[in-house]
Amino acid sequence: MSSGTIETGLSREAHDIHQALASLQEELEAIDYYHQRVDVSDDESLKDVLAHNRDDEMEHATMLMEWLRRVMPGFDLQMRKFLFSTGSLTALAAVKAATQAPRTGLGLGSLQGKENKEQS
Ligand SMILES: [Fe+2]
Repeated sequence: MSSGTIETGLSREAHDIHQALASLQEELEAIDYYHQRVDVSDDESLKDVLAHNRDDEMEHATMLMEWLRRVMPGFDLQMRKFLFSTGSLTALAAVKAATQAPRTGLGLGSLQGKENKEQS
């Protein structure tokens, strides 16, 4: 998937979100590459280094996901619904949330209340 923008004249918020999503794609790709190399490496010391690097990329990806959760209400809603849950994910998907994320043009959250969200 391309990490370029497809539209011109993006708002600052949309541009920031694009950068975070593109960076997340890159981190996830790095995790996959490292994981594949860990899987096939015959050298245990190299395997350890590759696994360490893979896990560092997981930290980077998770930081980006948290940033996206803070600024995009749709991510916040879905993460609250699915993350750290147990049981059937498809059953959870069928449950309508009591509070739906407000829908704006791009699903962008207001960055004005960002400071308040970060404290919660
Ligand atoms: Fe990274």
